[in-house]
Amino acid sequence: MIILPEWIKACNVNEVNEGQLFSFDYNDKQILLTNLKGKLYATNRICTHEEADLSTGFLTDEGVRCPLHLSVFNLDDGKPQNPPAEEALTTYNVKIDSNDIYVEV
Ligand code: FES
Repeated sequence: MIILPEWIKACNVNEVNEGQLFSFDYNDKQILLTNLKGKLYATNRICTHEEADLSTGFLTDEGVRCPLHLSVFNLDDGKPQNPPAEEALTTYNVKIDSNDIYVEV
């Protein structure tokens, strides 16, 4: 069976202002929306190291920092910028339509 990606509405643009994190679930996906320097990103929300919830982390200039062991993940490609995490986060496409944010899952 082939599962095609689809765009789902995540929230209103006013819910993810610059510097903010927003989390939501869709089916089995746990997604983190972030607004870094005015640009929106969507990634998996669970750290690839020991499964900390990145929505309780914080944004830096380089990406989102895990609250548990402090790996920072680049938001464009999901790759960790420092140990201990080694695996990249899944990333998702994001678009805005009529003040709503959509994520391609
Ligand atoms: S759980 Fe995120 S770096 Fe360890």
